Amino acid sequence: MAGTERLICAGTDLADGGRGVRFSVERPAGAVEAFAIRHGGRVYAYLNACGHIPAQLDWVPGEFFDDSKLYLICSVHGALYAPESGACLSGRCAGKGLKALRVRESENNIFLLTDDSDG
Ligand code: FES
Repeated sequence: MAGTERLICAGTDLADGGRGVRFSVERPAGAVEAFAIRHGGRVYAYLNACGHIPAQLDWVPGEFFDDSKLYLICSVHGALYAPESGACLSGRCAGKGLKALRVRESENNIFLLTDDSDG
């Protein structure tokens, strides 16, 4: 399966539990918003769409973590998600998690990985 990768940001742009980096992902229906964060030393990326309704999670751009810096929070109604999986932990997401994207970190660069099945 043919895959591509695209540079999102520098690895140093993502502090553990700190501000995320927003970016767009091209889909057949058009661009959709996404974000990358660092948690437990690893980088994770998700579509920026809440499981409750597809609103973007960050009211203040790039602020995805709650005050504890342990969970991702939707700024609209407060749904909590696991940073390492995007799973809904509590709130109005009601079991519907975030859509994960594949990323790779190499030599201080964060790459988004895509293939033909990422539609
Ligand atoms: S839109 Fe995210 S919890 Fe309601």
